[in-house]
Amino acid sequence: MMESTETKRTVSLEEAIAYTSKEKKDVYKTFVNPDLANLLSLIGFDKTFASALGTEVIDSEGNTYLDFLGGYGALNLGHNPKRIYEAISKVQQMPNILQTSINGVTAALAKNLAMICPGELQYSFFSNSGAEAVECALKMARSATGRSKIIYSENSFHGKTMGALSVTGREKYRTLFKPLLADVEAVPYDDADRLAAILKRRDAAAFIIEPIQGEGGIIVPKSGYLRHARDLCSKYETLMIADEVQTGLGRTGKMFACEHENIEPDIMCMAKSLGGGVIPIGATIASEAVWKKAFGTTEKCLLHTSTFGGNTLAAAVGITVIEEIYRLNLIKEAKEKGEYMLSQLRILQTRHPMIKDVRGKGLMIGLEFNDSERILQRISSQYLGSLIAGELLNNHRIITAYTLNNPNVIRMEPPLIVTLEEIDRVLACLEGVLTKYGSFLSLAVGKGKDLLSSVRVW
Ligand SMILES: Cc1ncc(COP(=O)(O)O)c(C=O)c1O
Repeated sequence: MMESTETKRTVSLEEAIAYTSKEKKDVYKTFVNPDLANLLSLIGFDKTFASALGTEVIDSEGNTYLDFLGGYGALNLGHNPKRIYEAISKVQQMPNILQTSINGVTAALAKNLAMICPGELQYSFFSNSGAEAVECALKMARSATGRSKIIYSENSFHGKTMGALSVTGREKYRTLFKPLLADVEAVPYDDADRLAAILKRRDAAAFIIEPIQGEGGIIVPKSGYLRHARDLCSKYETLMIADEVQTGLGRTGKMFACEHENIEPDIMCMAKSLGGGVIPIGATIASEAVWKKAFGTTEKCLLHTSTFGGNTLAAAVGITVIEEIYRLNLIKEAKEKGEYMLSQLRILQTRHPMIKDVRGKGLMIGLEFNDSERILQRISSQYLGSLIAGELLNNHRIITAYTLNNPNVIRMEPPLIVTLEEIDRVLACLEGVLTKYGSFLSLAVGKGKDLLSSVRVW
């Protein structure tokens, strides 16, 4: 009998690593996302990067780029931190996934999270992303309270899975996927009166909030708002879910941004930098009271699960990330360097009217640009951020990006290990771009032909 042992000639890892720029683009266009590939090419974001360490990324021609995007907040420790790989090597002999066992490394990470989180937060559920951490929080809130309504903020971003999307305040991401989760309601961000009016009905399971809105354009609420919101939630027996996926783990100059107002949420979500920029991980941590009501019986303890959640590698990395944040003093670094950068950007703003606003906390900084040029008015708010980001990348080798809900805002979220010299370099280059173009009109005329044709995809 003929043996059927035909082996498909798949691409080897060595071949993938050795792809030329063209091969890489062609394969990506054919098998991943053609329009995204085109868009990245159009704005010059299609470089071939060969290596990365700390704040730097190096392309195939040996050019070094400074990363001030920081993986949308996932690179608080920078690229490829040595100690994260050491942690991985320490556990690589252990079973990584064995659900029918009690994993001590997972338990230790949960204990450490309880130690570093504010208030009574104690029990952790582990998943693999920020959106999943939010999904768990929403389910937990409904199960714990027996209520169904979830209140969220306009302009928020909590992820793109169905549940997280249902509480994400950007219509563009929602429209095609309706109907989304029932019984959710939006309130304006930073408006305690409107929040009180909804909470008063006493029918909300939870109010989910980013202590600083990230993708919404780095929006810092007025001092006192979070405290007020916390008090209102307690008064009307609605759980407060703090989404610290982007703000957490030192980014804003505190371990968690709710600590700026001494807020103790009932449930907190984190992800991104908990994986050290290397391993996907999400965590949803709840107080004992909430956890017990939500999942605290033999019947309920497996109501919410995730195959890779709490795997040994991810937990080992999470433990090491927290150690590194303390060892390198990253909370203090973020606070001090953030204050420096914010103050310098505000000085820059006085010289360049193109900068409409500078805002943020710690090393979570947003730079909003004016879109008042008459000719560009109709389209400008759709792509000003990417124009500036493109200039910084292509002429100055600095990586930044706009925020998802507000493309007019460039985010500055460098790794927390960034140096003052690197910050100064970015400031000088930004000044160079602003001086060179003077107004968005000339920037757009210079770059606009191709870009205008791409506007439809934003
Ligand atoms: C505040 C916040 N929550 C949730 C998410 C979703 O995280 P992920 O992309 O890991 O699903 C993000 C992502 O940017 C975020 O900023």
